[in-house]
Amino acid sequence: MTAWVYYSSKTGNTARLMQQAGLRALRIPTQVDAPMPEITQPFVLVTPSFGDSSGKGAVPKAVIRFLNAPERRQWLRAVVACGDRNFGTGFAQAGDVIARKCQVPLLHRVEMAGVSSDWARLQAIDQTLSSTLLNRQVTA
Ligand SMILES: Cc1cc2nc3c(=O)[nH]c(=O)nc-3n(C[C@H](O)[C@H](O)[C@H](O)COP(=O)(O)O)c2cc1C
Repeated sequence: MTAWVYYSSKTGNTARLMQQAGLRALRIPTQVDAPMPEITQPFVLVTPSFGDSSGKGAVPKAVIRFLNAPERRQWLRAVVACGDRNFGTGFAQAGDVIARKCQVPLLHRVEMAGVSSDWARLQAIDQTLSSTLLNRQVTA
């Protein structure tokens, strides 16, 4: 089974996305000093984007802290990115950054908490993510 890990700020869109999709998931805490979830199996990361006006810094700081630990990053297999289409080319850019840096596929982009087709897509990913992907070792 696919494990899911997500980050969501106070606005909670990504938390609602995971809830609407009916997926059990571990949450990356917003507080700097809170313990990170322990990761012991392959997972898909779901993250919103928080870029500045130039599009820089799209990956939330808590997600960077989470991925900076090799013992967690080694289990990352794919990413789903959330955002707001009003950001134009910066839409869901955190997903592109993580996909490039960690050499994993960006599976889907979701606006805000998503709509029923997004929830269905995440459920399909949950059910069908291939064992090849889950078993691949990531060293980046
Ligand atoms: C300060 C700020 C910067 C943002 N920057 C981006 C961005 O660069 N690209 C994007 O697609 N969405 C951007 N967003 C929109 C959020 O990614 C979007 O609202 C997301 O659903 C928030 O998820 P959350 O409520 O789970 O934290 C930004 C939102 C805020 C408040």
